[in-house]
Amino acid sequence: MKIAVLSGSPKGDLSVTLQYVRFIQKKLPQHQLKVHHVSHDIQKLEKDGQAFANVIKDIEASDGVLWAFPLYVFLVPSQYKRFIELIWERGAQGAFKNKYTAVLSTSIHFFDHTAHNYMRAICDDLDMKFVDSFSADMDDLFLDEMRNRLLIFAQGLFEAIEKKLPTSKAYSPLTYSKFRYAPGKAKDKVDTRGMKVLVLTDSQDKDSNLARMVKRFQESFAQPIEVVNLYDINIRGGCLGCVQCGFDNICVYEGKDGYIDFFNNKVRHADITIYASTIKDRFMSARMKMSWDRGFFNGHVPAHMGKQMGFIVSGPLSQIPNLRQIMDAWAEMSLGNLAGVVSDECQESAQLDALLQNMATRCIEYSTQVYIRPKTFLGVGGYKLFRDAIWARLRFPFTADYRFYRKHNLFDFPQKDKRYGAFNKQMISMIKNPEMKEMVRKMIKTEMVKGYQKVVDTK
Ligand SMILES: Cc1cc2nc3c(=O)[nH]c(=O)nc-3n(C[C@H](O)[C@H](O)[C@H](O)COP(=O)(O)O)c2cc1C
Repeated sequence: MKIAVLSGSPKGDLSVTLQYVRFIQKKLPQHQLKVHHVSHDIQKLEKDGQAFANVIKDIEASDGVLWAFPLYVFLVPSQYKRFIELIWERGAQGAFKNKYTAVLSTSIHFFDHTAHNYMRAICDDLDMKFVDSFSADMDDLFLDEMRNRLLIFAQGLFEAIEKKLPTSKAYSPLTYSKFRYAPGKAKDKVDTRGMKVLVLTDSQDKDSNLARMVKRFQESFAQPIEVVNLYDINIRGGCLGCVQCGFDNICVYEGKDGYIDFFNNKVRHADITIYASTIKDRFMSARMKMSWDRGFFNGHVPAHMGKQMGFIVSGPLSQIPNLRQIMDAWAEMSLGNLAGVVSDECQESAQLDALLQNMATRCIEYSTQVYIRPKTFLGVGGYKLFRDAIWARLRFPFTADYRFYRKHNLFDFPQKDKRYGAFNKQMISMIKNPEMKEMVRKMIKTEMVKGYQKVVDTK
């Protein structure tokens, strides 16, 4: 079998993920895995049509495709996202149609499911025959058991191709609306009350719905707000994954492009940050993703702590719950508050005017009250994963994160929680006595609610 491997790490040959691919190749030498470093080479693939065509030609000549990438900020790296966009922009979808495919990632399992959902949907959109996915922890290769599982996964792909096994789709195609937004005038303008509002947009066409939505949002305020177009910032490239920023948050791009100054001078100081993007395939644009990835020079430190956030989106957002989940997670993991998400799916300009105006009002209200909605599982679970990682295996090289987590008491391990320790000890010893056990069993419901009732009665 000949498999085209689309390698997604900007680190190229030094990729951890690639070692998983190499291991498969070594153990199953009867198959040929041809690696294309599409993330590492993205700038060449963008500029040089022939280089891109060569990758596509190899896919056409292959029996299957293995998507192999590292997790970057809830998804694939921005360079990989850009490669996926190029497939459609250059009309190369035909090369993927009906090809057997599988997805392999390495990560620390932080939102690996959203990246895999994304890739699965991309495979379905490309009309591929999706066989399986394998989300390895980056250190799984050190374990006999996991290496074994990796080979079973790889053999599954080869077998599906050999035996032409049936596959099914998980996602329906997206449908796009032709609605053209004609913004109305903003009447009751919102007083910013001194809050700094920043809109970060990837709009490339001033007549697009997105550009109009951003303008209408801007006009909702009585005072000027700042709108920055990501294409106006000199960004030399995506995150390189070198993690040299880990020690003290200094990025290798420092002094070489405009992103870090933009982040430090604008994003850090905004009370309200709105991300405004057009949906491209199953996510926002690769340019927006690049700005998220480049923000990784801050390590695992939350970017919008105590601040308001929002999204203005053009495209079929309601058909992509995976993206909606990432938006929620992005806000929760940033320790910010998602004040609103507005898309142009409503089909009525007046309604869209009202939604944008309402989001402007909510942003200022929440910002004034410093309101942060409680985290859901996305933020609670995500934080525990980060906490444990920064405490132990990621303490080096992410020493800046470690200092931040210490300073902000984020190492909130359960064994440190004194509230429950003494109580548990006392109750567990009490129920060793069968009579007491029976008595406690009967009292548990009334006793459990007592503390809550006391708060309601006294506060
Ligand atoms: C910029 C950046 C973002 C990352 N984001 C995530 C993430 O969202 N979830 C996760 O589990 N791991 C994340 N990681 C960890 C990588 O996925 C992991 O280290 C991976 O094995 C790197 O593979 P590679 O060497 O092939 O690039 C991130 C790493 C970097 C450098």
